[in-house]
Amino acid sequence: MSDWTSGYVAELEYAQGVYREMGPGMLRLNLLLQQADPSALTSTPLRYAELGCGHGLTATMIAASHPGAEVHATDFNPAHVAGARKLAAQANLKNIQFYEHSFAEFLAADLPMFDVVALHGVYSWISAENRALIRDFLYAKLKPGGLCYISYNVLPGWAPAMPMRKLMIELGEGNRAQPMGARIDGALDFLGQMQKANAGYFKANPMAANRLEGIQKHSRNYLAHEYMNRDWTLFYHCDVARELAGAKLTFAASAHAGDHVDIVNLTVDQQQLLASVTDPAVRETVRDFMVNQQFRRDIFAKGLLRLSAQEQVQALANTRFALTVPRSSLALKAGFPVGEVNLQADVYEPVADALAEKPKSVAELLAAEPLKAMGYQKILQALVILTSSGQAAPALDDKAAREAKPHCDRLNAVLMERARTSADIAYLVSPVIGSGVQVDRFSQLMLLARKLGQKDIAGFVWSVLSAQNQRILKEGKTLETPEENLAELKAREADFTAKTLPLLAYLGIA
Ligand SMILES: C[S@@+](CC[C@H](N)C(=O)[O-])C[C@H]1O[C@@H](n2cnc3c(N)ncnc32)[C@H](O)[C@@H]1O
Repeated sequence: MSDWTSGYVAELEYAQGVYREMGPGMLRLNLLLQQADPSALTSTPLRYAELGCGHGLTATMIAASHPGAEVHATDFNPAHVAGARKLAAQANLKNIQFYEHSFAEFLAADLPMFDVVALHGVYSWISAENRALIRDFLYAKLKPGGLCYISYNVLPGWAPAMPMRKLMIELGEGNRAQPMGARIDGALDFLGQMQKANAGYFKANPMAANRLEGIQKHSRNYLAHEYMNRDWTLFYHCDVARELAGAKLTFAASAHAGDHVDIVNLTVDQQQLLASVTDPAVRETVRDFMVNQQFRRDIFAKGLLRLSAQEQVQALANTRFALTVPRSSLALKAGFPVGEVNLQADVYEPVADALAEKPKSVAELLAAEPLKAMGYQKILQALVILTSSGQAAPALDDKAAREAKPHCDRLNAVLMERARTSADIAYLVSPVIGSGVQVDRFSQLMLLARKLGQKDIAGFVWSVLSAQNQRILKEGKTLETPEENLAELKAREADFTAKTLPLLAYLGIA
């Protein structure tokens, strides 16, 4: 039997993540912000494919929150697919199918034509041969007007840390007899010692030292897939755009909302310089140099249609938004390439107040009393900035949210049950925004306690933890006694009741 991994790490499973940019609502918003036609997303059924889906949590949450969609997701790692199929079956989701196919097998499979083909965290980590297969898939299986979400590591942002990754691989190779986790630990430990020994590389590259500190905090599962693959290619956007042009794709928009607001990304001088670059692919690449980009999330279209300015305004005016943080936790500072930005309280507070009542469209916000005077541009910009900083998200219309609710409820019920024994999925799915939201294990268990009609919420969570001999870790210290654990759970319950629960109710989860 040949090695099915193509040099891809299979020894450690990938981390369970949800990438909200891949959902239809976010794709639509980001396309609209660049006057790109999102009508592929209104196909019925919406046929959505994901290549290299990992544990499939993003795809599963898209399926649950878009019951009218038909989701086909593949990953050649059987452990990933077995887990993904189990979760979808437990939640009785009928509109998602997982395949244990390599890209070559998926290309040869009997599949429909797709409106969306998405791949996250894949293109930089596979061989040139596999990238070509993905382009063949896009050429053969994406409908005209169809969309491709693709993310990849880019230069110049990655440049300072590139040599460190090479050394991690080489140091790891020397310990091949050891399991992957130990190889990663050994390599990181050695790099740490090099830094302490004042290696010239770290002196000349302070960014690399920062990166090393950041790496230490990641899970070994994430690091194995990010750093230890045989294949690892850093791209320039213009090269990816040229490669994908062979599959008839054109760059449509960044899939990251914050990228669409120039003032938080570029100085005036930078904006002027950028405007002088006429070739779109080179301009986008120059932009990556301006912001020192290291990871891109792009949307390409097969046969890109542009909207008129009027169509764009109309479609954005009809776009609904919801808050994704408790109103009382709204942060009026956010980090962007230009640095930390203070968000104007007199704009953001009233926008957040209006959204806190219920999700609203841009047009509804514009009609609301304190916001009327601000005008369309200011309100839209505030919504985009809130979305990019994870404090808001595009929302489904009420009818779509109602239809999604029972499917999301079933998936959430399975995830809450799972939280009894595992903390690996820190997400639940919202029928209001049509996407996963981060909800930690404690909150999931507290929701479960409420669902089961438990009166003593903290006591219930403690009974779950103590039965498995688990203790709470607080500020790096394990709380040993039952009294300490219960007191901490009571404090967390108060926070849950005051902030998390109302938010989860608003998002259609609780
Ligand atoms: C870094 S993970 C990303 C997983 C998922 N997209 C996410 O972001 O959570 C890359 C995934 O691609 C899968 N993969 C790599 N090469 C593949 C191939 N040739 N065919 C199918 N899947 C592949 C791996 O098994 C892995 O689950």
